[in-house]
Amino acid sequence: MKVSPSLLSANFADMRPDLEMINASESDYLHMDIMDGVFVPNISFGFPVMKSVSKICTKPLDVHLMIVEPQKWISQVRDCGAEIMNVHQEACLHLHSCVQQIHAAGMKAGVTLCPATPVSTLVDIIEDVDLVLLMSVNPGFGGQPFIRHTLEKTRELRALIEKTGSKAEIEIDGGVNLQTGAELTAAGADILVAGSFVFGALDPLDTIRQLKQLS
Ligand code: DX5
Ligand code: ZN
Repeated sequence: MKVSPSLLSANFADMRPDLEMINASESDYLHMDIMDGVFVPNISFGFPVMKSVSKICTKPLDVHLMIVEPQKWISQVRDCGAEIMNVHQEACLHLHSCVQQIHAAGMKAGVTLCPATPVSTLVDIIEDVDLVLLMSVNPGFGGQPFIRHTLEKTRELRALIEKTGSKAEIEIDGGVNLQTGAELTAAGADILVAGSFVFGALDPLDTIRQLKQLS
């Protein structure tokens, strides 16, 4: 299993030890949640913070934009060194165009669905994306309980990917721990985001290792 620890649950007053832990860990990515207070009822951090983090973090950046009109910020995300740019389906009026522009900027394109957005809305874009990020909580906050319907959505998305021959990976975000992680693995997930479960653990390195071992 690939693991993408979410910086949202790190110590914002002193991020360096948390970033050094991530660098030393078996994690595959660092997940970064950008919020605008409009698309979601919270504001996290923006590009200057992301740029500073990218200078210390040696893991590829998996950027999750919870903002309206994400297509306006593609070059800024690229300039922060992002490998994956995830945009919300609900925030993009012209999703196909946005995906094309993310690719043209040299990044992998991820499309994110809120809990109430059906997998069927991806039918006409699934072959063009590198990743689908399913929200298993309502976006905006860490530490919320896992929405169990995500397991059914994960199975449905896996079936759509197999049917279309899409290369998209399935990433899940919200309420991930070892138990929900094991269920998501069985349902067909490829990448697990984990914020509070990793940064709230007594031994974050071992927690990441245990998530990695899910199969
Ligand atoms: C929530 C964010 C998540 C968050 C997950 O809107 O997208 O990435 O950090 O936090 P946990 O793992 O604590 O649910
Ligand atoms: Zn996220």
